[in-house]
Amino acid sequence: MPAELNLVFVGPPGAGKGTQAARLVDDFGLPFIATGDILRANVAEGTELGVKAKEYMDRGDLLPDDLVVELIMDRLAQPDSADGFILDGFPRTVPQAEALDAAMQQAGRRLTAVILVEVPDEELIERLSGRRVCSKSGHTFHVKFDPPKHEGVCDVDGSKLIQRDDDQPETIANRLRVYHEQTSPVVSFYDRDNGPSGAILRRVDGSRDPDEVYRHIRALIATVRMEDTL
Ligand code: AP5
Repeated sequence: MPAELNLVFVGPPGAGKGTQAARLVDDFGLPFIATGDILRANVAEGTELGVKAKEYMDRGDLLPDDLVVELIMDRLAQPDSADGFILDGFPRTVPQAEALDAAMQQAGRRLTAVILVEVPDEELIERLSGRRVCSKSGHTFHVKFDPPKHEGVCDVDGSKLIQRDDDQPETIANRLRVYHEQTSPVVSFYDRDNGPSGAILRRVDGSRDPDEVYRHIRALIATVRMEDTL
């Protein structure tokens, strides 16, 4: 029986983590756990968490670790995550990475790979400012790189396409700053040889065409799985 596939996607805002992870979900049938999506759903529903989260998200700041850690640990404890998962947007700080490691160890599990999608800042700004998302289901498009068939309308379900509140220029700049200051250390955390997770970081050049990026990620996963069985 193949080992469980526990994947984490890390990378700056707009690197294409969501775009790539969504395709892998279709391939592997694993639950896709994206902190940003969970938080936006809470904002839309007006939950207590959503009201709190909106303040941070609108500024492009990270929510406090304890809130996000609890949210993700609850989600990972659900039965559908028992045979594997794809995490997007968590961990984003070293304390979050440590909490995930501790929870995995306690459950006798481990991460299969942490996939870092790398893209230069200039390109991220263009991607985020041109991103449009489906107001109903979050399907993602780009005015230049992945335009919908009809302007402003989702190809998948015909809903209106909107711009995310945090895809405004000032917020994008802060999100990039926050990434470099607070999330970059997570990359080193997973890249070190003797850490609790070992060196499980895999780098992907996210500046290429989405299909090429996808092929690279699939090849990486195949390699990691093969190494697992040796
Ligand atoms: P979150 O929703 O996780 O945002 P993010 O990390 O900033 O990531 P994005 O969704 O913006 O980008 P992506 O990499 O998924 O890119 P996408 O595939 O859409 O988090 C939002 C907020 O929630 C945070 O700011 C924070 O406040 C809070 N939060 C979340 N997690 C947290 C945590 N763990 N702790 C604390 N707070 C947390 O692609 C972008 C665009 O580019 C699209 O238009 C797409 O069509 C296009 N594109 C994709 N790939 C390519 C390609 N290869 N070439 C050309 N265009 C491409």
